[in-house]
Amino acid sequence: MHKNVLITGGAGFIGSHLVHHFVRAYPQYQIINYDALTYAGNLENLSEVESAPNYRFVKGDVLDRELLQQVFKEHDITHVIHLAAESHVDRSIHDPLQFITTNVLGTVTLLQVARESWKSPEDHCFYHISTDEVFGSLGEEGFFTETTPYDPRSPYSASKASSDHFVRAFHHTYGLPVMVSNCSNNYGPYQFPEKLIPLMIRNIQLERPLPVYGDGTNVRDWLWVGDHIEAIDEIFHRGRIGETYNIGGHHEMRNIDLVRMLCLIMDELLDREPGTSAKLITYVKDRPGHDARYAIDPLKLMTELGWKPRVHPKEGLRRTAAWYLDNQDWLERVTSGAYQAYYERHYGG
Ligand code: NAD
Ligand code: DAU
Repeated sequence: MHKNVLITGGAGFIGSHLVHHFVRAYPQYQIINYDALTYAGNLENLSEVESAPNYRFVKGDVLDRELLQQVFKEHDITHVIHLAAESHVDRSIHDPLQFITTNVLGTVTLLQVARESWKSPEDHCFYHISTDEVFGSLGEEGFFTETTPYDPRSPYSASKASSDHFVRAFHHTYGLPVMVSNCSNNYGPYQFPEKLIPLMIRNIQLERPLPVYGDGTNVRDWLWVGDHIEAIDEIFHRGRIGETYNIGGHHEMRNIDLVRMLCLIMDELLDREPGTSAKLITYVKDRPGHDARYAIDPLKLMTELGWKPRVHPKEGLRRTAAWYLDNQDWLERVTSGAYQAYYERHYGG
């Protein structure tokens, strides 16, 4: 069936992988990438698909209701996959208002435009991409399931939780056809180097200190970005309207163990003596309100839609490290300008 799919945030990390995949795998769809190009959005990520006949880019803010109305009309948008967001927890601690603006008001603006544009629920879907952080923090045991009560603890996760609630409220109140997925920590190429893995890769290469927050025992559940894209594809095509799906690969690691693993990989790739990079590990002041552990139970997605993760972190981390080493120009460009100014303001250069 023909679909005109609006992907918001398609110039960011996960969004650019999703746009690549949809443009190539579904030539019968029109893919419209709607992105404000903040510090985290980069059209270079999409250079391989920019001239594809089924791809269009529109520079726009999810708060711009008029522009969104125009885009829905002009491209006869039938489906939305909504990724545009402020996504970094540390930034949300420095500037919570920006997160409410983009993640909450932006999402509600987009929901309103979809509701006004779609006269009936048939053949439409608003698919909202969210995070496992809405569920709060786990102790040593247990997993987040689709029925775990929401307990967000950072301004970022509170803003994402609020946006999830609005998406479901539009379903229950107005009958808008929606789906939501909540995913664990992604990693891979094109991730902005303020997030743990690319930040560590860059610092190892530059022989700078590797800032591990607190005692490094916080646990994250890591997923190769390509596995997330496959899950989104399955849910988009075969998920049930009104449902929520948790996405995670059962790859939990303590931050310190992950950083040590990366150090060994980088020693090998950079031809350094094993153990050289680990000497750069520096324990620093903890993130305020730092969630102890995230872990997803993906059983519903696996049994209902047959999804399973393919890439183990050992392999995925090696591929990621090699990609950053091979893409120095990209790294240089995204870390100059606005990012450098932000970093110096908060971390002193
Ligand atoms: P990212 O920060 O790399 O990209 C965000 C994109 O959104 C950028 O291209 C940016 O320009 C765009 N954007 C920001 N504000 C906008 C606005 N007002 N209007 C239009 N575009 C705007 O983020 P990411 O890591 O790729 O995450 C994408 C989505 O997936 C987010 O909604 C995030 O909450 C969710 N998510 C991320 C992860 C993860 O590990 N990265 C895990 C689960 C869920
Ligand atoms: O769980 C999904 C979430 O994962 C997504 O919704 C977010 O968009 C994404 O940014 C990510 O959030 P985290 O806060 O878990 O990711 P981050 O890469 O910032 O940090 C991962 C862990 O590493 C976390 O426990 C904090 C720690 N950390 C992070 C940085 C940047 C450090 O120890 N040192 C650092 O310099």
